[in-house]
Amino acid sequence: MDFKTALVDLLRKHLKKDVKDLIEIPPDPTLGDYAFPCFSLAKELKKNPNQIAQDLSKQIKADFLTKIETKGAYLNFFVDKTLLTQDVLTTVLQEKEKYGRSTLGKGKTVVIDMSSPNIAKPFGIGHLRSTIIGNALRNLLILQGYKVIRINHLGDWGTQFGKLIVAFKLWGDAKKLKKDPIPYLLDLYVKFHDVAEKKPELEDEARAWFKKLEDGNKEALALWKTFKDLSLVEFKKVYKLLGVEFEAYSGEAFYNDQLESTIELIKKKGITEMSEGALIVNLEKYTMPPAILRKSDGATLYLTRDVAAALYRKKTYNFDTMLYEVGGEQKLHFQQLFKVLELLGYTWAKDCTHVDHGLYLGSDGKKFSTRKGKTVFMTDVLDETINLAKKIIQEKNPKLKNKDAVAQHVGVGAIIFGDLCNDRSRDILFDIDKFTSFEGETGPYLQYTHARLCSILRKKKLSAGKITYSLYDKTEQEIIKHLGRFSDVALDASHQYKPHILARYLLDLAQMINSFYVSHPVLQDDKDLEKARLALITAVKIVLSNGLGILGITSLEEM
Ligand code: ARG
Repeated sequence: MDFKTALVDLLRKHLKKDVKDLIEIPPDPTLGDYAFPCFSLAKELKKNPNQIAQDLSKQIKADFLTKIETKGAYLNFFVDKTLLTQDVLTTVLQEKEKYGRSTLGKGKTVVIDMSSPNIAKPFGIGHLRSTIIGNALRNLLILQGYKVIRINHLGDWGTQFGKLIVAFKLWGDAKKLKKDPIPYLLDLYVKFHDVAEKKPELEDEARAWFKKLEDGNKEALALWKTFKDLSLVEFKKVYKLLGVEFEAYSGEAFYNDQLESTIELIKKKGITEMSEGALIVNLEKYTMPPAILRKSDGATLYLTRDVAAALYRKKTYNFDTMLYEVGGEQKLHFQQLFKVLELLGYTWAKDCTHVDHGLYLGSDGKKFSTRKGKTVFMTDVLDETINLAKKIIQEKNPKLKNKDAVAQHVGVGAIIFGDLCNDRSRDILFDIDKFTSFEGETGPYLQYTHARLCSILRKKKLSAGKITYSLYDKTEQEIIKHLGRFSDVALDASHQYKPHILARYLLDLAQMINSFYVSHPVLQDDKDLEKARLALITAVKIVLSNGLGILGITSLEEM
């Protein structure tokens, strides 16, 4: 039974209207399980809200309510504790990994543009955030029944590939490239810029080679493809560690042959103009700089490819919503993109959202990705974290089996949770020592809590049969109530595109169960009480594991 729905139905009968959105959960449990403020009824009923609350409290009755109190204009409802407990626990224990699902998104499709690193360059920390947050959003939306398409919009096109081709033809070494592709390509790129400062004609050459690439020149394409394939091998290592997959790898290059027709279409709508030789959409009216579609030298841009991509995705996936999980520094780019789509007359432009994220900062408060002026390689950061996790595990639990696998999950979980426990729009401090700690607001803390519950359940399994729900005391009822909120919290996190709402919920749950465990021994002479507690522990374990899974973190049986 869903008590909130039951309460809404009850109120609907009395008031002849739906007050679902007005029902609150009081912050202080002494004020009841649900509250309904009567202010909104005052006008209609021509009575003062306090009086309305008084009157309603006398009229309303239901078996599942033990008490209705008024506090000013508020009606506070107290749900029968035994019923509530029974209801939540049986649902969790029955539904297990399905607990928390809804069907709100049934029949609807969401496209998430996520990760999208630039090939021939290191996988950046911004791309890591996009991967982690995008993946959590995907899982949250799947939980609501949406179909989700994850698209990796690789940065695999643009004038920089002309430069790389020139650099590789001049100084390249195929063996070195194969050995350590990304750092090698990065070096070539840097060298190109150094040399081009003294020899600017190299820039012309690079432009010419990019033009050749766009026109399908075999040599150019073959080099480009090598760079791309080698980069992908590296990126896929990160994805494998993180456990993230994509429904499509369609990067910028994919749209190369759709750019002309896209530009024609925009021109036909009559919203373009020429400005200093470039083809633009003037956005002055919207206080934005112009959207440049084609530069005076004929080259298209990042934005042009994003317009083509949006049209293609609408045609291919007929999405109801499209999310771009991309750093906040691209805010203007997406405002321009969405405005161009709107000016083209597509009503679905309003279904596109830039789900932004902030920067990672190093301990010096500066942007993390340029620590000591050096590029940080994501694979190194992940390795470092996993090694640290291994060290901690070695100290804490030297006899543990599968130490390497566990360390990998703990290290990865540390990074994922270190990110997701923060509101994504905010900048966050990248602090590996803090992230990997087994205490505090961390992934390992949650994994450890889960492992602890597993260990209790290994010693004493929950047997089948009746549970005496009336045995639960106040602390236990609080935990059960918290478990009952899981679906609402997940829904909130999904629709606000904010995984941290779920992350915070899990921290609260872990805190509750850890203090419960200290004050409420599970092993009891009273077998009914023991069973009730085992049921509670099992339910918390299920919800913790579900929640961690949604965030992209593996829950561990032992660590
Ligand atoms: N490759 C881009 C970058 O690293 C991100 C792409 C985001 N997606 C998009 N459709 N523009 O900045």
